Amino acid sequence: MNQIEALPKAIFDVEAVRRDFPILDQEVNGHPLVYLDNAATTQKPNRVIDAICHYYRHDNANVHRGAHALSDRATLAFEGARLTVQQFINAPSPEQIIWTRGCTEAINLVAQCFATPRLQPGDEILVSVMAHHSNIVPWQMAAEKCEARVIPIPVNEHSELDLEAFKKLLSPRTKMVALEHVSNAMGTINPVEQIIALAHEVGAQVLIDGAQAIAHWPLDIQAMDADFYAFSGHKMFGPTGIGVLYGKREWLESMPPYQGGGEMIESVSFEGTTYNQLPYKFEAGTPDIAGAVGLAAAIDYLGTLDRVAAAAHEMQLLEHSLSLAVDFPGFELIGKARDKTSVLSFLLQGTHPHDVGTLLDQQGIAVRTGHHCTQPIMDLLSIPGTVRASFSIYNTHQEVESLFAALHKVRTFL
Ligand code: ALA
Repeated sequence: MNQIEALPKAIFDVEAVRRDFPILDQEVNGHPLVYLDNAATTQKPNRVIDAICHYYRHDNANVHRGAHALSDRATLAFEGARLTVQQFINAPSPEQIIWTRGCTEAINLVAQCFATPRLQPGDEILVSVMAHHSNIVPWQMAAEKCEARVIPIPVNEHSELDLEAFKKLLSPRTKMVALEHVSNAMGTINPVEQIIALAHEVGAQVLIDGAQAIAHWPLDIQAMDADFYAFSGHKMFGPTGIGVLYGKREWLESMPPYQGGGEMIESVSFEGTTYNQLPYKFEAGTPDIAGAVGLAAAIDYLGTLDRVAAAAHEMQLLEHSLSLAVDFPGFELIGKARDKTSVLSFLLQGTHPHDVGTLLDQQGIAVRTGHHCTQPIMDLLSIPGTVRASFSIYNTHQEVESLFAALHKVRTFL
């Protein structure tokens, strides 16, 4: 049974959820906004907006260093947010939660501070062919410095990771496996636990890009056994500019700092500088305090929802859209994984994705078009890109109907 089938058909009060997201209540180009670009960024609930406003209205100060009440409050909120993230992903300790600017920076941190010092000429990094560029390019940069190689893990005809091919690629040369939990372009859910276990058998470490997974279901990082897990706040109802790197303590302890500056030092002198302990060793400079506060508020918000029901709702939206796609003339679904999140990536025969996106926007419908920063999989499929509608907890079945009604109009225009 796949993850979709395993979900109970729970009742989910989507109208109540929508009321939590003020941005949804507006018209775009004379039509009610239908926001279906959630894989690019999610909208923010009042709780997040209010937490950020409250922080700036009442508590704003720099953290850790100030000898005054506001700094104490800011520090409490900032470190409290780290604890919230720790509990949210079931990490063993808050020191293993490193704040970053986003998922991309978290991956770059691991590529530069973990992989680069360890890689030897001839070593291999396995990366999925459907990966986002942010989980390809940092490894290419690391490999280039070390004369190592980045090797793509192929996909099968359903655009699922080819597990048999992956097993064949594993060898003592494999030092790192970098994999997206969920494909941003197609929604494919990768069997990360299985891949992590297989990689560990040959002594490789695994980084999971969780950007597209984190909003959809609860994560138990210890059960998953990933060496590193990266995600962004803004794809899970939090603000932009804040992300998280989780790492196993032994790896984080062994890594050199990422950037030099304040906070990451223990002591500085011209004779020699020593570095701070975890997590501060990786957090040079004034952090995004309001971002951390906002991300914690997003996690608190998710805690108010029945997440099983929320995930089931998203899956029902996907199933609804797929049922409408079946009879739609010239509709080509891109990414037919049996286990996928609520992403509908497609082409309309005889049209360019950008034209479809523009005409949908004119009808108030926001989708993403293009290669979705996944050029290798687009090249493999010999397509320039796709139209991608990605559903979230606040989308409705009426909006799915509106998408297809608008697509029918698009067909008559193009
Ligand atoms: N990575 C984001 C997306 O898939 C921007 O749209």
